Amino acid sequence: SLASTAEIDEFLGCLSADIPTRLIQTPSTPSYSALLLSTAWNLRYILPDTSNPLGIIAATEHAHVQTTVRCGRRHGVRVRVRSGGHDYEGLSYASVHLHKHNEPFAVLDLAALRAIHVDPARAEAWVESGATLGELYYAVGAASCSLGFPAGSCPTVGIGGHLSGGGFGSLARKYGLSADNVLDAVVVDANGRLMNRSAMGEDLFWAIRGGGGESFGVVLSWKVRLVPVPETVTVFSIIRSRNQSAIELITKWQEVAPVLPQDLYLRVLVLNQQANFQALFLGRCGDLHRLMQDRFPELGMTEQNCREVSWVQSTVFFGFSTTSVPLVQLLNRSSNPRYYLKVKSDHVQEPIPRDVWESIWTAWLEKPEAALLMLDPYGGLMSSISPSETPFPHRQGNLYQLQYYSFWYENGTAVAEKRMSWVRGLYKEMEPYVSKNPRAVYVNYRDLDLGTNELDGNVTSYEKARVSWGDKYFKGNFKKLAAVKTMVDPHDFFRNEQSIPPLPAAK
Ligand code: FDA
Repeated sequence: SLASTAEIDEFLGCLSADIPTRLIQTPSTPSYSALLLSTAWNLRYILPDTSNPLGIIAATEHAHVQTTVRCGRRHGVRVRVRSGGHDYEGLSYASVHLHKHNEPFAVLDLAALRAIHVDPARAEAWVESGATLGELYYAVGAASCSLGFPAGSCPTVGIGGHLSGGGFGSLARKYGLSADNVLDAVVVDANGRLMNRSAMGEDLFWAIRGGGGESFGVVLSWKVRLVPVPETVTVFSIIRSRNQSAIELITKWQEVAPVLPQDLYLRVLVLNQQANFQALFLGRCGDLHRLMQDRFPELGMTEQNCREVSWVQSTVFFGFSTTSVPLVQLLNRSSNPRYYLKVKSDHVQEPIPRDVWESIWTAWLEKPEAALLMLDPYGGLMSSISPSETPFPHRQGNLYQLQYYSFWYENGTAVAEKRMSWVRGLYKEMEPYVSKNPRAVYVNYRDLDLGTNELDGNVTSYEKARVSWGDKYFKGNFKKLAAVKTMVDPHDFFRNEQSIPPLPAAK
């Protein structure tokens, strides 16, 4: 149902009864563009033809979120929630569906709701959704030198979207995902009610820890478990080109990395025809060196490769690829340059043969428009968590995630088409070597190519969602996610191109 101009005015009037007008921007107010762009990470979704929000609400209090949801419900205006704005397909601030269904939407921006309270004695923290991973890492490091938090590598990613979709990073093999370490949460539901874990119940609490952002309500804050880390950890980065055996090393890495001890995380980034092996070891250099000699001598790691640092400094290393950036950079919410972005991803369950890597390298990685490949190992604790424990189903049986991560700075459709067709072409070529039935994808690596929602009456079609993207992101958990949706948002107020649909009504 589409809101008319009159309804949009009523929506804005409804908001301003409870929310100071300086926090509400519309296309005719001076700060609208700056606020819209403030955390719009994918430049592909701020082109002029992208559907823009009719308003942006920069909430500074929990009550502003409740008001926005209630006014949206009342006047037929949908709400896109934005925490860090890092969605790969820009779903927190742009809508490719606006033209299709003509549904006006407002952005509810949570960037100002970013308080963090660390309780080192209990090894817990409360963190609001608008905080970034870097801000959380910094706060944990300031409170304790022997606690950490398992989450992703980019410090500007928002807590809200990241924890909603899982949260994978350098501590995952030891402690699981961010979502595996959530103890409580505060949510605003589709009726504008504020609920913690005991009020929302275990089914909704299950769904918000990995079921993807947007679908179930607005998560305002999260209580997380902090995990023990040694006061000194070790990182390294070892770069090998093709004539330094990069292909042989990647081939071997596939068998080694997923079965290393849980204290060692070893990923590979392939960029500019070089393979960069990056490690985090929860221990000292000497032990790491012995372990690498034993498990992966071919890499030729030496003690000179080691950097012994605190855990929080290791987050700087993964965020900025160097340990020499000062810790306060973790607090810089615009430390990353913006770029145009297209990502596709896979799960690899059996090592890809060396000759396949050889031909991929020659046919794809040597092209000027080649993307960054990221190979992120599973195994360790990830393999012992049941696939239904949280909505994130990619557990035992997966060796690693493989991302085809294309980013570029030049404007224009020709460049974009070249980059995107590279990603899509390689993705197609990789089909025989990756997970099948379904070809599984991690929801935080959102990919609209998998398919977008369609309406069935007034609500999102369950069947269409299931076959296009639902099985791929969630496997056997999709139906339970839809059941939770039916319970908490049967009218499908919170929806986007890939939101969880309610179960179809019994016919
Ligand atoms: P954003 O604000 O765009 O939200 C993402 C989705 O969640 C949207 O649909 C939004 O509506 C919804 N949402 C946001 N806040 C919500 C809230 N409070 N309540 C309910 N719904 C909400 N992932 C990973 O696991 N490990 C990694 O190392 C990285 N690294 C990385 C680097 C870079 C540069 C990018 C761009 C992305 C990643 N990611 C990642 C992926 C990242 O985890 C994913 O994009 C997150 O959803 C981003 O969360 P934000 O809050 O920043 O996004």
